[in-house]
Amino acid sequence: MIQFQEQDHMRLCIIFLGIGLAAQHDASKEGKPKNPAFGNPEAIAAGKKLYANSCAACHGPTGQGGRGPNLRHRGAWHPLEDDGLFRIIEKGVPSSDMPGSNLPESQIWQTAAFVRSLTAPAIESTTIPGDPAAGESLFTGKAGCVNCHRVSGRGGMLGPDLSNIGAMKALEDIRESILDPDADGFHRYKAVTVSMKNGTTIKGVARNRNNYSMQVQDAKGELHLLNMRDVKEVTVSEHSPMPRNYAQRLSKEELDNVIAYLARQSVRPRDAAKK
Ligand code: HEC
Ligand code: HEC
Repeated sequence: MIQFQEQDHMRLCIIFLGIGLAAQHDASKEGKPKNPAFGNPEAIAAGKKLYANSCAACHGPTGQGGRGPNLRHRGAWHPLEDDGLFRIIEKGVPSSDMPGSNLPESQIWQTAAFVRSLTAPAIESTTIPGDPAAGESLFTGKAGCVNCHRVSGRGGMLGPDLSNIGAMKALEDIRESILDPDADGFHRYKAVTVSMKNGTTIKGVARNRNNYSMQVQDAKGELHLLNMRDVKEVTVSEHSPMPRNYAQRLSKEELDNVIAYLARQSVRPRDAAKK
């Protein structure tokens, strides 16, 4: 029994190593230290506690920033490498508000592992609160997500396909997309209302637009190809077409359930990768 678990663990390690090697190719070449806590669920859980005690006050409970910068979306272009992260946590940032810590080395690695886990794809998260089955019922039922989003070929066309969202976004970023669709201030999906000269109105998402024509997809998925000569007025919303009231409409538990469901949506499920 124990042997089996060890084998599974080994296989996982090899997968993680593969991913790690691709990402940290430079670091290993120069023999820089590697985080032994990286990807290790217990270490991340321990790091989460340490982070809550000594970092959250400045960087926010989920790394969204506050007095200190956002740790999930850095302003700087390059990702912080493991040893860089370690050094910052150990020594702080000189002549800034960021203090050094007096944690032992193992706990610094745990904290670093947690900070890293904040940006890992949701499908890799090991401790996701919430019930995915209940989340699926909400998604396709009461919450109405399926009216705009497709998962595995089923659903509406007004929003992006979410079949691979667990592999593309970190857990907290999925949460943010749901609670605050305008957060990133950039909308790939432009909600438009088009008044036609013949008196009709078409509402939907603009797919393509140039000086002569535009395509608008309505909530039913129907594509309208409009000649600009027939168009009286186009109003583009500054908001995302995604509703902004899910924080009120869903309880915390319901939200966790929906997120748990989306976190598992990957076109290449984790289980398949293990085989
Ligand atoms: C008193 C507030 C404060 C606390 C506590 C604090 N930080 Fe910071 N942190 C900052 C500030 C301010 C900066 C920006 C420093 C600068 O570059 O000017 C920063 C920078 C950082 C950076 C670099 C960010 C980047 O994009 O380059 C990391 C990583 C970081 N902190 C992690 C942590 C961790 C982990 C902890 C807990 C062990 C922690 N911080 C505790 C205020 C704080
Ligand atoms: C009225 C249509 C609509 C409904 C209903 C809706 N969404 Fe969205 N959603 C969108 C659109 C449009 C976007 C793209 C945001 C943008 O670019 O402005 C989006 C974006 C997202 C994203 C980010 C996707 C990405 O690729 O980054 C997630 C996650 C998401 N929605 C989840 C949900 C969930 C969960 C629900 C139900 C609780 C829901 N949405 C309900 C239209 C909708």
